[in-house]
Amino acid sequence: MSFKLNSVVPWGRNISEYREMFLLSGEDMKKRIAGFGDGPASFNCQASEQGSSVISFDPIYQFSEKELSDRINEVRDTVIQQMRENMENYVWDKITSVEQLEEIRMSAMRMFLADFEQGKKEHRYIYHELPDRLPCADDSFDIGLSSHFLLMYTALGYDFHVDAITEMLRVCKEVRIFPLCDLDSNSSEMIEKVIEYFRKSYAVEIKETDYEFQKGANRLLIIKKNM
Ligand SMILES: C[S@@+](CC[C@H](N)C(=O)[O-])C[C@H]1O[C@@H](n2cnc3c(N)ncnc32)[C@H](O)[C@@H]1O
Repeated sequence: MSFKLNSVVPWGRNISEYREMFLLSGEDMKKRIAGFGDGPASFNCQASEQGSSVISFDPIYQFSEKELSDRINEVRDTVIQQMRENMENYVWDKITSVEQLEEIRMSAMRMFLADFEQGKKEHRYIYHELPDRLPCADDSFDIGLSSHFLLMYTALGYDFHVDAITEMLRVCKEVRIFPLCDLDSNSSEMIEKVIEYFRKSYAVEIKETDYEFQKGANRLLIIKKNM
């Protein structure tokens, strides 16, 4: 499938947000971690700097640092304007204003951009589109993460999500997905059906997190292989 840069709204979170969303402990950070749909998040850059082993997969990694930087600058004002218009859909306790949110997101994306070309050389950023087969052996990673991508984009459909998570579970011993709601913060029948599908063959847990920025988006799905 051809993936067009002008169809993407790059918007990335940082390591503190990833650790809160995914309940990543100090011990977890010593494990082999894969991030799926990490996009321009700074998790990989910051975690790698701290000595963790993180590989990120995303279709946007086919583009150059300049192309991604231009696209981020192109969409920035629109995204911020949309946030202002929909402020009531977010929890403003930790991040207290749209201006602060913009600075946190832009700072994460600047870190990502500064790290991107070097990270590609180190094979930490890999161009890949789920649910295609990943260029990795079974059980290459201890933990696979998906933040604000899988289960959220419900329009991609049930089969897409089952196939994508199945491929992630081939290469990861455990998969963590946050949040468990769609783009409008609603839980959906499709999300429930996908969870039920994995309950048949895997150990499935749902945990509440302290991280809640989008109202109602505070649940983490953990799917573990019964090893
Ligand atoms: C809303 S962003 C989330 C970025 C990051 N995970 C975060 O939370 O800061 C969604 C990401 O999913 C990626 N994406 C879209 N389609 C994908 C696919 N088929 N496989 C993997 N990633 C995909 C996009 O390129 C984008 O970077």
